[in-house]
Amino acid sequence: MNTVKTVRELRAAVARARSEGKRIALVPTMGNLHSGHIALVTKAAQRADFVVASLFVNPLQFGPNEDLASYPRTLAADQEKLLQAGCHLLFTPTVEEMYPHGMADQTIVRVPVVSEGLCGGSRPGHFDGVSTVVSKFFNMVQPDIAVFGQKDFQQLAVVSALVRDLNMPIQIIGEPTVRATDGLALSSRNGYLSESQRAAAPALYQVINTVADAIRNGEKDLEQLLVKGKHDLEAAGFRPDYLEIRQAVTLRPATPDDNDLVILAAAWLGTTRLIDNLHLNRS
Ligand code: PAF
Repeated sequence: MNTVKTVRELRAAVARARSEGKRIALVPTMGNLHSGHIALVTKAAQRADFVVASLFVNPLQFGPNEDLASYPRTLAADQEKLLQAGCHLLFTPTVEEMYPHGMADQTIVRVPVVSEGLCGGSRPGHFDGVSTVVSKFFNMVQPDIAVFGQKDFQQLAVVSALVRDLNMPIQIIGEPTVRATDGLALSSRNGYLSESQRAAAPALYQVINTVADAIRNGEKDLEQLLVKGKHDLEAAGFRPDYLEIRQAVTLRPATPDDNDLVILAAAWLGTTRLIDNLHLNRS
């Protein structure tokens, strides 16, 4: 596996692979890789001949009071994991390489509707930062496919809308969330949790599942379900940011008669914000 830092080297390596007739996959990451990321790379290696991963902690998608400075950076361990998982090329640009004209003057890609509310509501500008950096990666690599985790359900919806609306010939693949044995979705931010917070953390997915079970059992009062769910989160030690039931494709608020639903939650344990979701198709 080669590691390159510049767009010029990246384009040259991808061009070589393409000239050999290889199908190209891209897995964008911010590093500090865990089994969830590795599942994305494994899927990419199954579906393509040449797997490119990017590792870039993108300042454009962090708010002023967020964890940009403390976000874990573990390059050597990440390189080893990517190599084992079948990655061929790793792109680790600097901020200057990605934003050579500065971030203030950077063209911004904004995806309407699906980026609004949920994490987009709590983290203003976050999805503009994601859709901008992902567009840049897509233009640099021009992959045939790109693999993202379903754990970031709204991000996956934003990226899917982005390629659809901008006619990018890239197939977006959503890979199921990888969980610890107690159900907690793997996340780089789990490393911020204290021992007692880590013990409480699986309650996030448990509450989402309780909401899903009630819907499966015919409960129609979605508002009441969410009130109870937030109360359960608080009882488990969380400070809920949101708990919502949305239409799975559009992410518009769900009605009791919708069948393709997603239950999404974000909640704080101390200073750590965790997110999770469950896709529920009743049809
Ligand atoms: O999900 C992430 O790690 C990031 O949002 C992404 C897609 C790599 C863009 O910076």
